[in-house]
Amino acid sequence: MELRVVAGDILQIEADAALVNLFEGVERPGGATGAVDKALDGIITKLISEGEIRGKLGEVVEIHTFGKIKPARVLVLGLGKQADFDLGKIRYALAEGARALRKIGIKRAATILHGAGAGGISPEAAAQMIAEGVLLGLYRYREFKSPEDEREPQELLIVVRDPEQVRAVEEGVRRGRILAEATNFARDLANKPGSILTPGALAEEARKMASELGFSCEILEREDMEKLGMGALLGVARGSHEPPKFIVLEYSGDPDSPSKISLVGKGITFDSGGLSLKSQEHMKGMHNDMGGAAAILGAMKAIGELRPEVNVLALIPAAENMPGGGALKPGDILKAMNGKTIEVENTDAEGRMILADALCYARRRGAAEIIDVATLTGACHIALGDLCAGAFTNSQKLLEEVKEAASEAGEKIWELPMIEEYKEQIRSEVADIKNTGGRYGGAITAAQFLAFFVEDTPWVHLDIAGPVRSEKERGPLVKGATGVMTRTLANFLLRRSRKEGR
Ligand code: BES
Ligand code: MN
Ligand code: ZN
Repeated sequence: MELRVVAGDILQIEADAALVNLFEGVERPGGATGAVDKALDGIITKLISEGEIRGKLGEVVEIHTFGKIKPARVLVLGLGKQADFDLGKIRYALAEGARALRKIGIKRAATILHGAGAGGISPEAAAQMIAEGVLLGLYRYREFKSPEDEREPQELLIVVRDPEQVRAVEEGVRRGRILAEATNFARDLANKPGSILTPGALAEEARKMASELGFSCEILEREDMEKLGMGALLGVARGSHEPPKFIVLEYSGDPDSPSKISLVGKGITFDSGGLSLKSQEHMKGMHNDMGGAAAILGAMKAIGELRPEVNVLALIPAAENMPGGGALKPGDILKAMNGKTIEVENTDAEGRMILADALCYARRRGAAEIIDVATLTGACHIALGDLCAGAFTNSQKLLEEVKEAASEAGEKIWELPMIEEYKEQIRSEVADIKNTGGRYGGAITAAQFLAFFVEDTPWVHLDIAGPVRSEKERGPLVKGATGVMTRTLANFLLRRSRKEGR
């Protein structure tokens, strides 16, 4: 989809449809929607009074214009109640609007700059939300579908009244496009079937992206892991024919500073559970178990294009969790890179084990802070549902920054407590720590397992088992992998760059 910014009057634009908006409860629209209403002899006002248009968030109402204005149709996008309005509502409404364009079969549409009239919203930010909404909302994973009759919307003109605004709006569109395309890149990776996106294929994707954007990429092989003593990652990989890979990407946007932030993503390309085999029901969707890795790669793609002044060390331990002949057995004991031993009580708690080595590696490489993203526990999915990631930390300050970045991205995160007493549950009789902590508080004991390897480095852990995929279309979310946390991480790094005042 092409996004173009033009100065002009939406009533006069050559397009198949014009996108305007309405707040819930408004009886007589003002602004650009008001102007369209007037040109259409008050038909929008009439449809509101008849209850045909209500302005509910996500509502799309199609009106034919019969030559009264240039665009042949008007789509009125609901923005919800004015009191609840924020930037994310523009993203949501435009995503629904874009899918309506596809359904109707509209190729070329024009839109007003939604939200620009509301207090405190800059033209640039509004434009960013339009770009994100449209590009995220139209995403589909089509790699293995035979091409169909293409009715894809081709072009969206963003029409501003004031020619002086064009530059700022273009800048917002650029930023929105980069962030949405990075998210869609993460979605593409996570949607690929397990037998296609193996650890080796994931490493190749990372290498390709890094070389396109000019940052360094190193892939550690089994022998390298052996030398480093990554016994936990190697243990998990033992049941599979696919060799594990440890992906290391480095972005140096601030070469004068020695300090770097490490992003760590769980890269289990398929989680069968291993010998602690999952049931058929629970194994479904386990090709998404590298959603954390996808988010890290998506964020790296975005910052490779937006070039913030920060230093990032991105780490992805990648493996397949399978029950092959060499597989880990319950009762086995592994030694992680820092020399600590792990009792494997359940081979399905594999994510925390591969992350253990990655967290040790991040510390060894001198990371000043660590953020990890992982589809870690079904318990977190149950606690917070499909739309919200669990957050755990040893640094409220760092978490506060991550929360702000998430809110800007329209992604929900909620802190869960690191209850000290529950550490008992992962105490082992035979090793330094045990990889499962029982049914209760499963997301918390998993986080405490990670904390054991993080030690005193400021750290945030994001458990995305719930939001990694969506079962339905909901504004910017479509069915399948969501690419969740791509934009949160990218925003976090961009904010860091801005905050340091350069
Ligand atoms: N990948 C799963 C967690 C998961 C569950 C992700 C549902 C997405 C949706 C993880 O490796 C796992 O199997 N966790 C176990 C841990 C248990 C054995 C302690 C779980 O949550 O059941
Ligand atoms: Mn598992
Ligand atoms: Zn897993």
